[in-house]
Amino acid sequence: MKIFNNQKELKTFLANIETSLSTGFVPTMGALHGGHLKLISESKKECDITICSIFINPTQFNSNTDLENYPKTTEDDLEQLEKTHCDIVYIPKTNDLYAKNEKAKEFDFGTLSNTMEGKFRKGHFNGMATVVEKFFNIIKPTKAFFGNKDLQQLQIVKALVKQMDSDITIIGVPTIREKSGLAKSSRNIRLSKDAIKEASLINSTLNYCKNNKNDGVSVLKEYIKGEFLNSKLELEYAELVSLENMENITDWGPSNQNAICIAANIDGVRLIDNIIL
Ligand code: PAJ
Repeated sequence: MKIFNNQKELKTFLANIETSLSTGFVPTMGALHGGHLKLISESKKECDITICSIFINPTQFNSNTDLENYPKTTEDDLEQLEKTHCDIVYIPKTNDLYAKNEKAKEFDFGTLSNTMEGKFRKGHFNGMATVVEKFFNIIKPTKAFFGNKDLQQLQIVKALVKQMDSDITIIGVPTIREKSGLAKSSRNIRLSKDAIKEASLINSTLNYCKNNKNDGVSVLKEYIKGEFLNSKLELEYAELVSLENMENITDWGPSNQNAICIAANIDGVRLIDNIIL
């Protein structure tokens, strides 16, 4: 496994790779878990060479405390990447990607970035797209792999490659979960055992909605609110949206074109999850 800390060396290395070989890219912020490793193994399956980046991107955080508290487990991450036979790891410092005082670029993703995470985490998607665009321009992968867990992010990255007029294929990978059903997340290590148990409510509520889709949008929305009122989880939002534009729906669209997205807090940790139905 080759490790690069600066983009110049990485670019030179990639420029010398045989052009017939396909490259798969998995961007991460580290504190790797089974969800990230699934993205790596999907890339390994579909591409000749897999490149993973580990970079806690400051421009996508809208709270300094969240940025400072973000878990850093680089040694362990590298061990896990080695075990999954990742070929290349790019771990840049901020000044390798950003000029001094550089801010996030302003993108226009329309309704995709206005709702849910876009509404509750102002500037988050501009920051995320800024760094992903930089990575795409440096690495120029054949395919890039993103988790369905961050559904809005995935849809925005698909829009980003269209705006870049790039032919990078974006692959969405199913969410990997703890035994309890809780979606794996780097932030889960900050949860107590009790909170992990409680937090499984997010997934069980989403599954209930999928199994009772015929109850209709408004009934299910009320159901979700009721479930959270009776729990230790503080519901930030529960939205029933169209997958295409991430806007609220009042009736189901075609099958597999609807999603329910939830954000909730417990133990001061913010968790998100979703289901497509
Ligand atoms: P991070 O939160 O580290 O996630 C990296 C990738 O792993 C994302 O595509 C995310 O959707 C995916 N992922 C996280 N948890 C998952 C799970 N339980 N199952 C499957 N996939 C999962 O998302 C980011 O970093 C950043 O915004 C980034 C894209 C790296 C840009 O800074």
